[in-house]
Formats: sequence, C-alpha cells, structure tokens
Amino acid sequence: MQVYSKSNLIQKDILRLKNDHSIGFVPTMGALHKGHISLIKKAKETNDIVVVSIFVNPTQFDKKEDLIHYPRTLKGDLKLLEESGCDMVFTPEVSELYTDKIEAEHFNFKGLENQMEGKFREGHFDGVGTIVRKFFQIIQPHHAYFGEKDFQQLQIIRSMVKSLNLPIKIIPCEIYRESDGLAMSSRNSRLTYDQRKAAPFIYKVLKEVQANFQTKSISFLQNFVEERFKQHPILHLEYFTIADEKTLKTAIRKGSTKKYRAFIAVYAGTIRLIDNISLN
Ligand code: PAF
Repeated sequence: MQVYSKSNLIQKDILRLKNDHSIGFVPTMGALHKGHISLIKKAKETNDIVVVSIFVNPTQFDKKEDLIHYPRTLKGDLKLLEESGCDMVFTPEVSELYTDKIEAEHFNFKGLENQMEGKFREGHFDGVGTIVRKFFQIIQPHHAYFGEKDFQQLQIIRSMVKSLNLPIKIIPCEIYRESDGLAMSSRNSRLTYDQRKAAPFIYKVLKEVQANFQTKSISFLQNFVEERFKQHPILHLEYFTIADEKTLKTAIRKGSTKKYRAFIAVYAGTIRLIDNISLN
C-alpha cells in the first residue's frame, strides 16, 4: 500500500495505471470503522486499484467545535487500510487542497442542498461539493463509493457528477450497523457510555416508522416520532422527516409511484447522529 500526501504525485501514478486498470475511490474523513471497510471491500470486488482518501475537510463543518473534536486516528486507519487490501491512500494537508483560502465554492444542487442537513448545517454541502470535486479532479476514478447513511450527500454527489458530465460512476453502499442497530459513524466513538447505550433507540424508532408506513399517514408518523423523543432523557430530536428519495422534499402525503425514506438527526449531548431508512 502506497501512502501519498501530494496531489501531483498520486495523480501521476494513477494516470499511469488508469489505461489498463480500473480505479475505485473511497473518500473518507478517517477514524475508519467497519462501515468504511465495507465500502473498500465493495470497491475491491470491481476495481483493480482501490484508492482511499483521509482528509478532515474544514469547509464542510458548520461548527468549529465539531471540526476540532472530529476524531483523528491516522496510525490506526493506515493499519486497517493495509489489512483491508487498499492500494493507495491519499492523506493531504489542508494547504495541499486549499492552496489560497480555506473556503468552499458555491454550488447549485437543484434544491437538494436546501433540505434536511442543508437547513441545519449552513454551507455544509458547498464544503462537500468543493472537496469531492477536488478529489475527483485529482484521482479521476472510474467508480466512487458513498454510504447511504449520508443519503442526502449521495444524491448531491450524483447530481454534481451529472451536471459536470464527469465520467465517474457513483456506487451507493448500504448503511452498515452495529449489532444493536446503531448506524456506524466516526462520531460514535465520542459518545459516553450512557449515550452509546441510548443511541440504538434512533434505529428502533425508524424501524417502527417503516413497519407502520403502509397503514399510517405521514402526519401520524411525524407526530409519533416527535412524541417518542419528547420524553427521552438523553437523545434530542433535531429533525425527523419523510421525504421523496429523488427530490428529498418532505412528503405531505404518499404517492403510489414514489419511493420514500425517513430521515432523522438527533443530538446526544453535543454529538450529532444521523440515520435514515427506506420505507417502500
Ligand atoms: O462522507 C464523508 O466522510 C465526507 O463528507 C466526504 C465525502 C469524505 C467529503 O469530505
């Protein structure tokens, strides 16, 4: 496994290989867990070379505190990557990717960016778009892998690739969960013992919504979830919404031909957890 910190060096090696090797790319912010490894395993199934980036992108954090406390575990990450069969790792410094200013470009993701996470994390998707576009320009993969836990991010990247006509296939990867149902996330490592014990409640409620989706109205389910969290001593609901999978717009009532997903963001202390589930 080769580790790179300079974009021109990794780009040179990838361009040399690209003609007769397929390149799979898994972007990450490090603090790797089994969810990331499952993306890498999936990338290995269909690509000759798997490239992973580890970069905590400052422009996608709306809260300075969150950026400062984001877990950084490079040594352990590299060990995991080596064991998982990753071929190339890109771990640039901030100054390597933001050469002038640490600033996001502004994107128009056709309204996808204004829903859910976009409402609560100002500028977040401009930061994601900025960094993912930079990675795509440097690495130029054939396939790029994104987890469905960040479903809105996945749809936004698909929209960006389409509008920029990039020759990159975006591969969605199912949410990887702990045995108690909690969606795997680098942020889980920051939960206290009590918060970690409480956190599977999020998936439990999502499963209840899924089980009742066919027979109950959307407004009933909305109230149901709000009530379930109202009395919770540890978890605080930021938002719950049932949305159209394509437009990500909140659904008021069900249409027979559409696909819906329930999306949720919850705070455990200062730690923000998100999750989602397909409903039909
Ligand atoms: O999903 C993430 O970990 C990040 O948003 C990504 C795609 C690596 C961009 O920084």
